[in-house]
Amino acid sequence: MDVVDTIDALRQARQQMKGTVGLVPTMGALHDGHLALVRQAKAENDVVIVSIFVNPTQFNPNEDLSKYPRDIPHDLELLRQEDVDLVFTPTPELIYPEGFQTWVNVEQVSQGLEGERRPGHFRGVTTVVAKLFNLTQPKRAYFGQKDAQQAVVIKRMTRDLNFPIVIRICPTVREPDGLAMSSRNVYLNPEHRAAAAVIRRALLAASSAYENGERNADDIRIVIEHVLETEPLVEVDYISIANAVTLHEIEIQTDDPLLISLVVNMGGTHLLDNILLPAAHNTIDGLTDTLGGA
Ligand code: PAF
Repeated sequence: MDVVDTIDALRQARQQMKGTVGLVPTMGALHDGHLALVRQAKAENDVVIVSIFVNPTQFNPNEDLSKYPRDIPHDLELLRQEDVDLVFTPTPELIYPEGFQTWVNVEQVSQGLEGERRPGHFRGVTTVVAKLFNLTQPKRAYFGQKDAQQAVVIKRMTRDLNFPIVIRICPTVREPDGLAMSSRNVYLNPEHRAAAAVIRRALLAASSAYENGERNADDIRIVIEHVLETEPLVEVDYISIANAVTLHEIEIQTDDPLLISLVVNMGGTHLLDNILLPAAHNTIDGLTDTLGGA
């Protein structure tokens, strides 16, 4: 496995690659969710590139960039075990050199949900992902369904800017109690970690209500709130019930495929999860194409 941290070395390595390239962009602190993306990329491509870059421009001033978990030696060990071909570990100065002033902004689907809670977040994500696409020229790129809005935003950007890249969205990987794997889970103390399982329970309760015919967004929201209320350690940031393609909030009643997203604050750590309904949809892959949207 080669590890490169300059653009010249990356370009040189890329030129020598034969066959299809799969890219897995990450911010490191790798867990089984990332490794599932790597395995999918390995299964579908001749060569796999993983990037590890804690992207400063997707953090808000009130989010602690310096505290984001980092452990490059451990990450590299995990990637070696997965037989990854190349890892790109740039510095912020390499990605954003002095005078940097060009941004990629996806206008509509970046609004609302995480875009509203974290202004500027998606501009940072799409800018760095566009740069990584240009630098690595992959045939396919892999992202997780856990960050569903990010997935929709990146698909939109890829179409709008004509990147010849297939965006693959992989199912959320969960702990045995249902908590979605996230690099941020390490921040949780044991009480918060145990309580966090309520997030998945709340989403599954919404799914059961939906399977039983419930289509009213307010009533689905009430079902979720009731389950969350059983855990006093949980503070709700937002519950969104949106059209899974446009991400427009559903006001009353709909038969559109739904993306139900939930963000809770547990002792200062924001945990995010979602479910697609009907539950037959594991990820937004397929949905976005069949509905001609994002
Ligand atoms: O999902 C992430 O880890 C990040 O948002 C990404 C896609 C690597 C861009 O920095």
